[in-house]
Amino acid sequence: MERRKFIGALAGSAAFASSGVGLLLSACNTGQFEQRTDAIKKAGESFAGYPHDPVRAENFTNPLFIPGVEGPFGVLSVTDTPLTLTAQAKTFPILEARASPFLLYETNYAGKSYQNPIFRIKSGNRFNATLQNGLNEPTIIHWHGLRLPANMDGHPNDSIAAGKNYPYAFPVTNRGGTYWYHSHADQLTAKQAYGGLASFFIVEDDDEVRLSSALDLKLGETDLPLVIQDKRFNANGELVYQPSMMEKMMGYIGDIVLVNLTPNPFLEISPKIYRFRCLNGSNARIYKLSFMRGLEKMEYRVIGTDGGLLDRPYPATEVFLAPAERVDILFNASQLRQGETVFLKSLAFDPMEQDGMNGMGGMDGGMMGGRGTNQSAQTGGNTRLANGVEFNLLKLMVAKAAQGPREVPASLSTVVPMDTAGVSPRRVTLSLNHMQWLINGQSYRRDAAAFEVRRAVEVWDIENATNSMIHPMHLHGFSFQVVGRSKSPAALRPLATASGGRVITDLGWKDTVMIWPGETVRIAIDFRQAFPGEQLYLFHCHNLEHEDGNMMVNYRIPA
Ligand code: C2O
Ligand code: CU
Ligand code: CU
Repeated sequence: MERRKFIGALAGSAAFASSGVGLLLSACNTGQFEQRTDAIKKAGESFAGYPHDPVRAENFTNPLFIPGVEGPFGVLSVTDTPLTLTAQAKTFPILEARASPFLLYETNYAGKSYQNPIFRIKSGNRFNATLQNGLNEPTIIHWHGLRLPANMDGHPNDSIAAGKNYPYAFPVTNRGGTYWYHSHADQLTAKQAYGGLASFFIVEDDDEVRLSSALDLKLGETDLPLVIQDKRFNANGELVYQPSMMEKMMGYIGDIVLVNLTPNPFLEISPKIYRFRCLNGSNARIYKLSFMRGLEKMEYRVIGTDGGLLDRPYPATEVFLAPAERVDILFNASQLRQGETVFLKSLAFDPMEQDGMNGMGGMDGGMMGGRGTNQSAQTGGNTRLANGVEFNLLKLMVAKAAQGPREVPASLSTVVPMDTAGVSPRRVTLSLNHMQWLINGQSYRRDAAAFEVRRAVEVWDIENATNSMIHPMHLHGFSFQVVGRSKSPAALRPLATASGGRVITDLGWKDTVMIWPGETVRIAIDFRQAFPGEQLYLFHCHNLEHEDGNMMVNYRIPA
């Protein structure tokens, strides 16, 4: 089936709107599927590439941007330090260091200036900052993953107009871990976060300190935050955010992949143990992270998830990372020889596959624009790098000789599974109707709660009945635990090595969880930890186009 026709069929079809992609599956017979898939594969293999094409290893010639002690993404250690964070439209050098329009948070502290500072704070300390809106449109900051009362959480209803302020002051009570902050402006989250309004919020606790000293990890040297983002640029090297109707529905996918805002980055490393705090800061793209030495997948250790350290390190060769998720990884470079090169890659997968179905690789190429196609946005997708194709993220070169600790500690922290005995699950269904993604049949209503929870341990069964896309579902206000997965697709099953059909990244505290087409994921949330008084929080898809497209609900915690 030809791509244009396919999109036409998709967009124009009422049947699609009511029954997901069932129609498409029946309309395209298997033979056509295979032909389409083959065509995409061939295009991928023979494709000549484009500037910054991440498939081409030889493009990886730009030193990875490493956060320093000031300036862009400078690490700013705070202890109740009153700050003013000004959201503003500036420029930032990205491609060939050419200035691109960029949105950023700027602050000055102790004679230094910071853009999108990486906050670093000890658990138990207070955070204190006033957001100053220097944009020409409303904005608000959400502290993603932090346990906060609703009025500190950056609800879109709290968006402030241009020129206005919003004061934030709160104690940080989360476990140590890699959190982040980003714009959550009403209907403008995708555009503003994509435009630059996002950075890390690193919380430290005793377990973190123990790990850092055992492995001699130093933030900015061997402990590196890596934010992974796919973007599009125009011919002048300027960021472009112009989602078409279809991209608003499927998510905005870029064709240049940045790590710490560096296209095609490399990093010179020593034969030591490195900690990589990976954040998927993309609007919609999902990564399958693997370290490859030639054709060999190297084993690494997963040590943390959204809400901090796991109980112990878990060996892995690949993990999925959906928008807003974090995975903390120890990569042991002491097994490498000087001069060796390893690539952190995103491996190929089929993002539309579901249990019992054939997979929809061909469809994905069709919807998102397969490799080798570069049609205009109006046709629905103009990316040259479809979601789910394989490409490189970061080249690691063992250049130095220094040695460091070689042994990873056997235990990291304590993660006590919640007691869910006797709790009857709440059903939460994700569906699609008339081109709208829905949560329990509802789309976002600013001033109403879709449901009220109890101040108790709740179990939610989140079922992805859209049958067509992965939805990374994010809960505000609380970290949760993944209890189990059912009807997982074949793409995920080999990674489901833990009890209850769970993958390694399900074994820690989470605030965002990937739900595959057809899959049901059971999570447990302890609402007894809620702040006093009535609280209104969000639950939404973190595909940011889905979020702004109202795949979001409020839920209420009663007083
Ligand atoms: Cu990271 Cu409601 O968002
Ligand atoms: Cu959040
Ligand atoms: Cu979604």
